[in-house]
Amino acid sequence: MIFTVAIDGPAAAGKGTISRAVAERFGFRHLDTGLLYRAVGVKGGDPVAAARGLTADDMNRPGLRTLEAGQAASRVAAIPEVRAALVEFQRRFARSEGGAVLDGRDIGTVICPEAEVKLYVTASAQVRAHRRWLEVGGDEAQVLAEVRERDARDMGRADAPLKAAEDAVVIDTSDLGIDAAVDAACAIVAARL
Ligand code: C5P
Repeated sequence: MIFTVAIDGPAAAGKGTISRAVAERFGFRHLDTGLLYRAVGVKGGDPVAAARGLTADDMNRPGLRTLEAGQAASRVAAIPEVRAALVEFQRRFARSEGGAVLDGRDIGTVICPEAEVKLYVTASAQVRAHRRWLEVGGDEAQVLAEVRERDARDMGRADAPLKAAEDAVVIDTSDLGIDAAVDAACAIVAARL
């Protein structure tokens, strides 16, 4: 069976948690596409060469989940040649046998417009910054500023900007507990299987 669940949205909206839960519930494979850009961002040197030569080791190195790696990812993610180098791998993953969940920024719009399910998971910048701050600590106002900076860069870039696909179902997790958000996502997938 070929079945793709595309989950897009801004940082710290709950995409990762929902994606992992949906993949586990339905036995699908999961790809966190942000890790691809994070690995390119922290590799250093020429980002286009890094994207073209990305290895499993690059994807497994520690430190990819930090705020700094997120900012580095968002900078290299605005380079069209970097995005182009990562398309094929993501498409193959999305359409591989057995079902796949991909989460990122452009899965439903660019990588897999034919996805059987498209979700756009979002929440207010304040709520997302607060969640990130609970994980990383430090100055909450600074975390909010970084969230806003990354949103602006991801939504404002010319190539594959972050936006909901026209046919995406929007899940706003600002006032929704994680269990309720996961249940909502799973109900949508189950209805289309
Ligand atoms: O989702 P995550 O926070 O790990 O993504 C890090 C950065 O990678 C995002 O801010 C975005 O700039 C970029 N990204 C992207 N397209 C994707 C996934 C991530 O541009 N599909």
